[in-house]
Amino acid sequence: PTVPITPLVDSDVADNFAFAFDIDGVLIRGGRPIPEAVEAMKVLNGENEWGVKVPYIFLTNGGGKFETERCRDLSAQLEIDVSPGQFICGHTPMREFADRYGTVLVVGGEGEKCREVAESYGFRDVVTPGDILKANAATAPFRKLTDTEHANSRDLLARHGAAKLSDIVIEAVFVFADSRDWASDLQIILDIAQSKGGRLETRSETFDEGPPIYFSHNDVLWSAAHEHARLGMGALRRIVETVFEDTTGGKKLKTHAFGKPQVSTFEFATRLLQQWRATQHGLAETEPPATVYFVGDTPESDIRGTNAMDAIAKNEWYSILVKTGVYQPGTEPKYKPRKLVDTVLDAVNHGIRREM
Ligand code: G3P
Ligand code: MG
Repeated sequence: PTVPITPLVDSDVADNFAFAFDIDGVLIRGGRPIPEAVEAMKVLNGENEWGVKVPYIFLTNGGGKFETERCRDLSAQLEIDVSPGQFICGHTPMREFADRYGTVLVVGGEGEKCREVAESYGFRDVVTPGDILKANAATAPFRKLTDTEHANSRDLLARHGAAKLSDIVIEAVFVFADSRDWASDLQIILDIAQSKGGRLETRSETFDEGPPIYFSHNDVLWSAAHEHARLGMGALRRIVETVFEDTTGGKKLKTHAFGKPQVSTFEFATRLLQQWRATQHGLAETEPPATVYFVGDTPESDIRGTNAMDAIAKNEWYSILVKTGVYQPGTEPKYKPRKLVDTVLDAVNHGIRREM
């Protein structure tokens, strides 16, 4: 007979508070850890004066890899074990849309990676910009597929048993990760937005029948290796909407964005944190921690979202802004954090001291 396994409650775990971290600009910049981040993780894992372990999760708007791959990278960078059970990236919530649409266009990321991720989420028929360029090279006059891209791109007509491209209907567009070629991706997204109901190579007469367009987040800027913040997916989203209007005689295009600051993303994080506290630390899954400290670098995503969550959640969501990323020290943040600190280590110490 099998004995039911009840996880033991960690005797030294903090049961009434937890941390959630943004990644770029807080823990990592340009693929390297921010020095204080490694120390901050040690403090959370019990190296503090009370010997208490504090549960934590990661909530990034970034993406472009399998969650398992990204956790492997993060484990090496931060010198800890990071599990997919404590990790959400920008496109993670898109998995819930896999059953809703048949043929979708997936944009962004390196090579074929985002197609693979989308298929692992259950999307049944994933078309990429490469497939469209392979079918009609005139789509983007200045973009030539490399030999590898050409070989990896699919033959759309054969795959769909179609005589012409206009027989193929894109039911939704998902921008999974940052575009690697903004010009051709912009052209292809706009072509579909202006099509007759998502039908490739067609033009609508009314410009109001394109399929829905989803971006995995809306960050106009993000913090990478360069000293100044870099343009992100939110900038591409703005260009798509603006140029749509400019080329349709003023018609508006309404696209959708996942990720922070959407409250639904924080609700998704709440569910993940509760499961993680239960499976990893043996705490009750039904009870959220009284306080979640969210540490971020971007006022428009991290602080705005945390404060909005705090306003509607039963528990407290406490926003902490660091100075190692998008936020420019000395300026007035557009969304005010509960606490402004230099680094993620200061954020962790602040939260723990506030509790103990
Ligand atoms: O593309 C990544 C980026 O826009 C933000 O990532 O970790 O700061 O939410 P993060
Ligand atoms: Mg960030």
